[in-house]
Amino acid sequence: MNFSDHQIGIYAQGMFTDQRPQITTNLARLEEQAAATLSPEALGYIVASAGSGSTARANRDAFDEWRIAPRMLRSSAERDHAVTVLGTSMPAPLIIAPVGVQTLAHPDGELATVRAAAELSVPYIHSTQASHSFEQIAEAGGDAPRWYQLYWPTDESVLLSFLDRAKASGFTTLVLTLDTTLLGWRPADLDRGYLPFLANLGIENYLTDPAFLAGLDQSVEANPVAAAMHWAQIFPNPGLNWSQLAFLREQWDGPIVLKGICTVADGRAAVDHGVDGIVVSNHGGRQIDGARSSLSALPDIVDAVGDQLTVLFDSGVRTGSDMAKALALGADAVLLGRPFLYGLALGGQDGVAHVLRCLLAEFDLVTSLSGHTGAAELGRESVIRA
Ligand code: FNR
Repeated sequence: MNFSDHQIGIYAQGMFTDQRPQITTNLARLEEQAAATLSPEALGYIVASAGSGSTARANRDAFDEWRIAPRMLRSSAERDHAVTVLGTSMPAPLIIAPVGVQTLAHPDGELATVRAAAELSVPYIHSTQASHSFEQIAEAGGDAPRWYQLYWPTDESVLLSFLDRAKASGFTTLVLTLDTTLLGWRPADLDRGYLPFLANLGIENYLTDPAFLAGLDQSVEANPVAAAMHWAQIFPNPGLNWSQLAFLREQWDGPIVLKGICTVADGRAAVDHGVDGIVVSNHGGRQIDGARSSLSALPDIVDAVGDQLTVLFDSGVRTGSDMAKALALGADAVLLGRPFLYGLALGGQDGVAHVLRCLLAEFDLVTSLSGHTGAAELGRESVIRA
């Protein structure tokens, strides 16, 4: 099936059955539509970024600095975007980014997301800060591919228990997020005095963990505040450093990916420390205000280490065209963040599936119209600096 069949399907429904998409197909405008349905707390937590928001703006602006350079008459009737990344095959180089507390967007939270991802065979990355546990995700996701994103807790018994549970629940690749050893300065949440984790939201992996529960004096039901405060003690880990990666390697047999790499130097360090991949990412601008855009970091990192590591990308991807640009600049796959969350807010599982279908259809059209028969054909010659 061509992803772009979705386009004619939408037209046909509109013309012959008088049904129109409930959620916009303009993926760059999803935020606006979702904002109308989200509570002020959810809006602040999901949409806002660190500090003045300049990193998030830079992420978006960086996509305008590159333009697609379309080639004609190259025959792209037969197209195939399928790739295999770190042993996981996928219909296109697209993965659901790890995003915590998805119940802020919709009561079904991560369960809806993993089900939508499974519908489309798009791999799903489970956040340590999810509102559902490893085991619930495994049950909802069935055979669909899933990876696990680790925030390295300072309590080693919890770390080891998380890794065991992830393995037992069928998560194949481990994504260690490096950029959030402390939470960034987020005025939208600070001004409300609102942090979901302290309301026991987004800490379900912990609250279902025997090692975590062993650290509590009372049950979670008897003293939920103490449970949240215990989380707040073991989550911050600013002491984390490169030398600890060897320990992680001993504990995890599958591929290991470092998320949050923004410089060539750290890309090289990742190679030296024997990991399998990196995600070039600034966490959607949620951590450091005034940081470089993620896309501006990508080409040099790919040039330096792209032949030794799998290089994934996120931060700012909104449309099929954005996805094409990141792949053209050398990413092996892109992670989709906020847009799927907006789909979740607007329509639960169907909303996420809508966003994925539209993104893949737009990507298929943009790449075909610009002379490519598949994602693998995208390269530096596919784009030009504006
Ligand atoms: C995130 N992100 C994130 N990353 C991670 O490694 N673990 C996590 O738990 C979360 N949680 C999270 C919550 C919310 C509400 C957002 C928006 C993002 C970051 C995410 O994986 C990804 O890096 C960004 O979403 C990419 O930026 P854009 O494209 O969404 O702007």
